[in-house]
Amino acid sequence: MSTAPVSKARIGIIGAGLMGHGIAQVFAVAGHEVAMTDPSEASRASAVDKVRRNLADMGLDVNACDRIRVVASLAEACRDADFVFEAAPEKMDLKQQIFVDMEAAAPAHAILCSNTSVMPITQIMERVRDKSRALGTHWWNPPYLVPLVEVVRTPNVSDASVAATIALLASVGKTAVDVKKDVPGFVGNRLQHALWREAISIVEQGICDAATVDMVVKASFGRRLPVLGPLENADMVGAELTLAIHEQVLPYIDSTPGPSPYLKALIDSGKLGFKSGEGFQTWTPEQQDALRKTVLDHLMRMNAQEKEAGRDAK
Ligand SMILES: NC(=O)c1ccc[n+]([C@@H]2O[C@H](COP(=O)([O-])OP(=O)(O)OC[C@H]3O[C@@H](n4cnc5c(N)ncnc54)[C@H](O)[C@@H]3O)[C@@H](O)[C@H]2O)c1
Repeated sequence: MSTAPVSKARIGIIGAGLMGHGIAQVFAVAGHEVAMTDPSEASRASAVDKVRRNLADMGLDVNACDRIRVVASLAEACRDADFVFEAAPEKMDLKQQIFVDMEAAAPAHAILCSNTSVMPITQIMERVRDKSRALGTHWWNPPYLVPLVEVVRTPNVSDASVAATIALLASVGKTAVDVKKDVPGFVGNRLQHALWREAISIVEQGICDAATVDMVVKASFGRRLPVLGPLENADMVGAELTLAIHEQVLPYIDSTPGPSPYLKALIDSGKLGFKSGEGFQTWTPEQQDALRKTVLDHLMRMNAQEKEAGRDAK
């Protein structure tokens, strides 16, 4: 159990790729000391520059980078840590070994966190001896712009480790939620992929094309989602109406217990999405860049608005 004060924790980060450098940025901006490592020399060399560019783009103080120390080994990144966040590739054997090494190198009070997107946390932690301090922290990309972190329990983690992790994450401005069961997809990805399955099915059935599916989402309930969750919405319209709609519609919603054959056929025909220039739709490099920029601009605007609203409320 960590007794480190949240105001000044020492953070270890294992893996300095897309997620690792972004997680480092969040803690450095909040004033914590970060030690980050990666076996790839290229990742180690570029990580702090990436953070500096992000901070400059966001109009934040680039001197926060001074609090990120890039170190050569996992042992060094863990040595004095109060919390260690693993953001290494999504491979079970690799992650299991990283947690064995993390446990050996980190102080006994340190909390050990995995950023896996979909792998069972309980299995990743199988070879950790003190499982009371090992848990999942599922950040979303980019970690410095998407507020949510799902704190995922295993059957062995202590309440104190969960509480300390949630307190740390909340103190750096994240929306940390307590996911009480280690289930595939946790909460966010279960919801997201339930929607994607039905979106694919609608296209497969010829009900409308892919661009129209996306337009329907963005121009209707997608507009409300940042302020109105699905269950708030169900309460707002009422449980009886929700039941009546479900009786009519649920029998027709895709419930295939596996990936769509349509999706597999796309892949077999070489339509891989942005990387091949075509997936559900065709994408020129300019269209890809424009969509990435639209998403980033949108997330930055939402963050700026929330900060302003927070200041106004004080
Ligand atoms: N990309 C996303 O949107 C996203 C979102 C949430 C969670 N995740 C999860 O975060 C983790 C990292 O994903 P990413 O997108 O940052 O991947 P990435 O490929 O950008 O970065 C992974 C980094 O890990 C390094 N690495 C390789 N072997 C290592 C080892 N033995 N020890 C430490 N580091 C090692 C690589 O050199 C690389 O720099 C994965 O588990 C992924 O599922 C990703």
